[in-house]
Amino acid sequence: MILPSLSPVSLCSSSPLMLQVAMFESKRILLLAIQLLFASHVFLSIVREGNAGITSVFIRSEWPSTDIPLDHEVFAIPEGHNAPQQVHITQGDYDGRAVIISWVTADEPGSSKVQYGKSERRYDYTAEGIVTNYTFHKYNSGYIHHCLVNDLEHDTKYYYEVGSGESSRRFWFQTPPRIDPDSSYKFGIIGDLGQTYNSLSTLKHYIQSGAQTVLFVGDLSYADNYQYTDVGIRWDSWGRFIEQSAAYQPWIWAAGNHEIEYMPYMGEVVPFKSYLHRYATPYAASKSSDPLWYAIRRASAHIIVLSSYSPFVKYTPQWMWLREELKRVDREKTPWLIVLMHVPMYNSNEAHFMEGESMRLVFEEWFVQYKVDVVFAGHVHAYERSYRISNIHYNVSSGERYPVSDETAPVYITVGDGGNQEGLAGKFRDPQPDYSAFREASYGHSTLEIRNKTHAVYHWNRNDDGKKVSADSMILNNQYWASNRRRRKLKKQSLMTLVGQTSAY
Ligand SMILES: [Fe+2]
Repeated sequence: MILPSLSPVSLCSSSPLMLQVAMFESKRILLLAIQLLFASHVFLSIVREGNAGITSVFIRSEWPSTDIPLDHEVFAIPEGHNAPQQVHITQGDYDGRAVIISWVTADEPGSSKVQYGKSERRYDYTAEGIVTNYTFHKYNSGYIHHCLVNDLEHDTKYYYEVGSGESSRRFWFQTPPRIDPDSSYKFGIIGDLGQTYNSLSTLKHYIQSGAQTVLFVGDLSYADNYQYTDVGIRWDSWGRFIEQSAAYQPWIWAAGNHEIEYMPYMGEVVPFKSYLHRYATPYAASKSSDPLWYAIRRASAHIIVLSSYSPFVKYTPQWMWLREELKRVDREKTPWLIVLMHVPMYNSNEAHFMEGESMRLVFEEWFVQYKVDVVFAGHVHAYERSYRISNIHYNVSSGERYPVSDETAPVYITVGDGGNQEGLAGKFRDPQPDYSAFREASYGHSTLEIRNKTHAVYHWNRNDDGKKVSADSMILNNQYWASNRRRRKLKKQSLMTLVGQTSAY
């Protein structure tokens, strides 16, 4: 806009013409003030946007969020009398030289023996397991076998066979490298999986990722959305569903709310009954008193599994165990400290908002103190990653109640997007809180590829209707090796090597 130029003399005049001019000048000053205000607003908005996280606008067309019918091939019962089904393995000790092999026989107890060795169909060793079963309302479970296979060599492929005669079945697994700060290893992270076509898409994409071990952050089968005998039937179908991965590599289990199965109307009031009978964990190896919380070490990672639905406040067994386990973490041997839990401590979705607040109040200070690298959770059926933030100075009288940027804090990642029958949690809180770096309501899974003691490459892989698409990625700096001046030289050397290796990303 071009404004007429006015002489100072004219402004001093009191004639009607001069009065009009004076009014015009007042309007001009007002207009300039408005322009200035607008410009500063735009500037401030740009500054704010520069620091804000991203809410992805990606909209996907979903497969139906209904469970796959029981007669679908992914739930096929293996042929033969009493053939082992639902075969799955998990780590069986503290350091990765043992596995627990579990399976179900439907007709009779049969053998709990595992034959195994380093050559296919030539087994040099035998291990003897145990068998158990349970009832759930009027459902009688099959015979559930758990067999500990220990004293294995690191970084070795083992072949194993379960069952007997013509019904026996054969699988294999690879043991992890020895505990070593420089071991590279690729973990996958899956949560809230269920057994829908979306779940199948997630599972297939996970298998394609080439990851070596699943860190499962709770809510397995969603069988508790059924009633009476169908609850047990859907636990069985889920066991057959995941076998294509879980029989060949360990799935590290954390429990979610769908494992509780407190169903008084059916006369079932023992929490975690189905889950604990079916999915073993090596809790005793980490001096835990309960299968719901424990720790393992694998390659260069120390992984702590917590239970969102077991007591955790001060002086409870889980609290006391965690206090001691954190002291046992040796970052010189296992540089990567990873925590798994079901309920996220930081979540900006309307679904389950603030549910993790009680555990955050109890444990967050330790996570910062012990330099946890990353905390993975599920529960919210969407994906979200935080910045490095903490909120450990708050108390009821301090008033410091907001999370702040904190480079010593973990990254919090929610991967509750496995694809179960409850659908997506599509409603994020608006505006996006400062602590939230990236969020999207789509199905998928994550991978964490540890390259060396200082760096890991992280991806969130959206299912994207049949294709696996990496939609959120970052290089994760190790919190212990990246923060000590003495170690910086080593870090620099490692980074130089990494840059050479990650040119494909
Ligand atoms: Fe959940």
